[in-house]
Amino acid sequence: MDHSFLAPVFSQYPLEVVSAQGVWLTNSRGERVLDLYGGHAVAGLGYAHPGWTAALARQAEACQFQSNAVAMQVRARAAAHLVRFSRLPFASVFFVNSGAEANENALKVALRMTGRPHVAAIEGAFHGRTAAAGAVTWGAQAKGYGFPRTPFDVSFIPRGDTSAITSQITARTAALIVEPVQGLAGAVDLGAAFLAALRKRCDEVGALLIFDEVQCGVGRTGEPFAANLYGVRPDMLTTAKALGNGFPCAALMMSAVVSASLKADSLGTTFGGGPLACAAIEAVLNAIEGEQLLERVQRIGDYIRKTCVVGPVTGHQGAGLLIGLRTTRPAKALQADLLECGILAGTASDPNILRLLPPFILEEEHVDMLSGALRDLAA
Ligand SMILES: Cc1ncc(COP(=O)(O)O)c(C=O)c1O
Repeated sequence: MDHSFLAPVFSQYPLEVVSAQGVWLTNSRGERVLDLYGGHAVAGLGYAHPGWTAALARQAEACQFQSNAVAMQVRARAAAHLVRFSRLPFASVFFVNSGAEANENALKVALRMTGRPHVAAIEGAFHGRTAAAGAVTWGAQAKGYGFPRTPFDVSFIPRGDTSAITSQITARTAALIVEPVQGLAGAVDLGAAFLAALRKRCDEVGALLIFDEVQCGVGRTGEPFAANLYGVRPDMLTTAKALGNGFPCAALMMSAVVSASLKADSLGTTFGGGPLACAAIEAVLNAIEGEQLLERVQRIGDYIRKTCVVGPVTGHQGAGLLIGLRTTRPAKALQADLLECGILAGTASDPNILRLLPPFILEEEHVDMLSGALRDLAA
């Protein structure tokens, strides 16, 4: 197949997928590959999940699209379900299409609501490639993630540095945006104490706290959100990736105070909150709750930590099924070796972190395949 008409912006794995089932991909040679990468943390329910597939087919037959100007029960149900699932005191949900778009809107709300010119973020963070999301992404200029100029003042706080919090979050600060577990950085868990210190400082100066749970949310940490895991309540929370299990969608959840700052036309979107996306979201939440997937994420995450520090792996970081395995040799080389063994894993911006973002339906027998393969690989 000629791929030359696709923009040359993605370095690609030596793998072409033609179909998938459960946690297994089938490549164009008809071989099975165990997917510990989950389409970059997207396929939480794995592939061809019957409830998700049926919900999309049902909604496609019933009505594939109406904009937000027209009321639809599936949209209202998805918003209510997401808030209930979060176990956090959010008052409203604004549905959009991607993680970057959710962050873009969260930052816009914070800047408008406070009338302040500055946003603080954390070193190592990745929040997306659009103007505002790129501005709060660490190293965006060097990596080309963002635009040449930022649309507001930005400063970065070193991870875990509680002393920098006071100087970087001030009365000029509209918001602090943080991934509670940094994804692209290599599954870096920022921890309850640091997140609580961020919450405290935001309260002191009247800044809003935004959790970017695009990658670490919707059950990936073994709790509905990392906010639950660390017991810290953000004013806004953005999420995407596993939310639709592959149907493009994202959400911005807002507290009652933030929500009260909005009026008609404050925000807008054509496709966000479309009925197919909302049907996918409902199916994802139903499956996570109905199939006890949060418990499974905790159990399998623990099992990986217990059994996979072998061969070239010397340690682990992260939470739930967002795991960084620390490697003695470059993770990229290890990733290639694992793919030779029929296992797909991810890498991270840390060159010695192999990142695992598997479907929540993973079983112990799949982890045994990984630990077996690692054991056979030279350290
Ligand atoms: C934490 C985080 N925020 C935002 C984004 C951007 O999401 P999207 O690619 O859907 O725009 C990503 C994508 O990897 C992410 O990991």
